[in-house]
Amino acid sequence: MNASVPAAPAERKAVSLLRLRAMLEAGEKIAMLTAYDAGFARAADDAGVDSLLGGDSLGMVVQGGSSTVPVTLEEVAYHVRCVARGRRHAWLIADLPFGSYEESREQSLRSSAVLARAGAQMVKLEGSWAAETVRFLVERGIVVCAHLGLTPQSASALGGYRVQGRDEAAADRLASEARALADAGAAMLVLELVPAALARRVQQENPALVVIGIGAGGDVAGQVLVLHDMLGVTAAPMPRFVRDFGREGGGVREAVRRYVAAVKDGSFPDATLHTY
Ligand code: KIV
Repeated sequence: MNASVPAAPAERKAVSLLRLRAMLEAGEKIAMLTAYDAGFARAADDAGVDSLLGGDSLGMVVQGGSSTVPVTLEEVAYHVRCVARGRRHAWLIADLPFGSYEESREQSLRSSAVLARAGAQMVKLEGSWAAETVRFLVERGIVVCAHLGLTPQSASALGGYRVQGRDEAAADRLASEARALADAGAAMLVLELVPAALARRVQQENPALVVIGIGAGGDVAGQVLVLHDMLGVTAAPMPRFVRDFGREGGGVREAVRRYVAAVKDGSFPDATLHTY
């Protein structure tokens, strides 16, 4: 062997559902970001994110709309296909967009199959009502992530982008919805815009459920942010739970590396600045 050739870096293994569960068990925080194209997916993957989400937030940050509601299944599938080509190690999740899963369990399966063919390893759906849909999908081999708290597809019905589960009755309701989704077989739960104490309770009550917070405090399995938000490239006002990792410079990979490191060492989210 030529002594001047540096040793190859230790091979990074692709992240699996088993690995995510092992991280939860070991207390290693999971760092997730949204991605919409191959180039940013590769940069985020190279920088060490554990999971990428082909989110319907593409309706806002890519298409310039004001909500996720107009986003179609074909649009999500297109972006997930692009992300799948750039991704190397990160676990890839795709959003089932509004109108693609609510009508019937059969519709949810057809839509999940479209996203799986695009490269998704897990599908995400919103809503407290969805336990039976989750059970149906899981029984048919689809890996499912649920999404509770502020659910952007029904933000109008929730009175806008506001913190959910603030009073005791609302917190109890959300906690029992999370239990029902976990019992139905959801492997992961995104909790958006809820008080940190409620997110902590949901994680404690469902120790095998990988709870990923966004505006939900740090006492859960991991964190997700919208890529454009954490790079500081969105025109919209930044929600309080976002930290702009892009402003410290060094380019996209450095910003994502800072995000991953901050999630892993627990310095993001900050208990005062980013938490309710
Ligand atoms: O679509 C999306 O980006 C999301 C995140 C906000 C979790 O669902």
